[in-house]
Amino acid sequence: MASYDELKEQIRRNPKRWLVSGVAGFIGSNLLEELLQLDQQVVGLDNFSTGKPENLDEVQRLVSESQWQRFQFIKGDIRNLAVCRTACQDVEIILHQAALGSVPRSIEDPTACNENNVDGTLNMLKAACENGVKRMVYASSSAVYGDHPGLPKVEQTCGNLLSPYAVSKMTNELYAGVFSQLYGLETIGLRYFNVFGPRQDPEGAYAAVIPRWIAALGKGETVYINGTGETSRDFCYVKNVVQVNLLAALTGNRDAINQVYNVALNRRISLNELFYKLQERLPVNAGTVPEYRDFRAGDVLHSQADISKAQQLLGYQPSHTLDTGLDAAMGWYLKSYDQGNG
Ligand SMILES: NC(=O)c1ccc[n+]([C@@H]2O[C@H](COP(=O)([O-])OP(=O)(O)OC[C@H]3O[C@@H](n4cnc5c(N)ncnc54)[C@H](O)[C@@H]3O)[C@@H](O)[C@H]2O)c1
Repeated sequence: MASYDELKEQIRRNPKRWLVSGVAGFIGSNLLEELLQLDQQVVGLDNFSTGKPENLDEVQRLVSESQWQRFQFIKGDIRNLAVCRTACQDVEIILHQAALGSVPRSIEDPTACNENNVDGTLNMLKAACENGVKRMVYASSSAVYGDHPGLPKVEQTCGNLLSPYAVSKMTNELYAGVFSQLYGLETIGLRYFNVFGPRQDPEGAYAAVIPRWIAALGKGETVYINGTGETSRDFCYVKNVVQVNLLAALTGNRDAINQVYNVALNRRISLNELFYKLQERLPVNAGTVPEYRDFRAGDVLHSQADISKAQQLLGYQPSHTLDTGLDAAMGWYLKSYDQGNG
């Protein structure tokens, strides 16, 4: 099985036309950056509902002029089938990231969750088939494990779902499976656990914990922990997620296709431990203590991924641990406050 470095060389030598949906978001823009740096043609689709034009501007600054010329952006909505059809034209591989993230957001507005995540993904699957796209790699979520108590989570064992968001991601997996059986589209679902890294939005009610806490610590504001802080998560640096997407996109292993995979590290850390890891990287906050409040409905208590399936079938080898990921991302977080974004 090719290592990730070998795979990147192979991709560079055989350029393809990719579609990244959700390209202006956190993970989508990191995928865009890697693909352009590998001299690929990329069509990007986003409606800027949670993504930002600034994320695209930042990618433009990180790639060469000629690489940026290979990017075509479509401002559009995956809830519109015609838009999906246009975006899929002449595309070989789709990396489908567009969705409304966040468990609490889905509890507040299950209809919006269903429209964006389920109807939108169904449109992408239809448009992919109609355009003869070879493969669609799509973002699923650890939320599909629901209340199953087993740790680490293994792909075939899920519990009762706890939120509309979890339902939407499980439904994506079911549709992807049916589309590959009925219409021959190759699909691979990636169950991301808690991803972090550059361009993850620190602002708003639905911000993820790492950027939100770094922003709060950076501004001298209170850090709130929901529950006792003994809740644990398997945090995964975005470069690991980019790696699995490209491995999934290009794998020639027939057994690896039409499957779902956990994407994380198989390491679990409590929110209390996370708080102190962030604090030690921002020494100005040495004395700060977090404030505890109620546990959030829909959240799971503990989360940790068994990643052996992705390792064995896709050749996934995480390049970053939580610590090296935090070290790599810290420069970006600090720069984003200086520019007034954080
Ligand atoms: N970040 C994580 O920890 C995590 C964990 C599990 C799963 N995921 C999944 O990964 C994917 C990417 O998440 P992210 O963290 O980058 O989130 P994000 O909010 O930064 O990115 C999502 C992007 O999709 C776009 N989008 C949303 N609805 C759209 C629509 N109807 N049409 C077109 N574009 C639309 C948004 O504008 C945004 O740019 C999502 O599918 C999310 O559910 C993320």
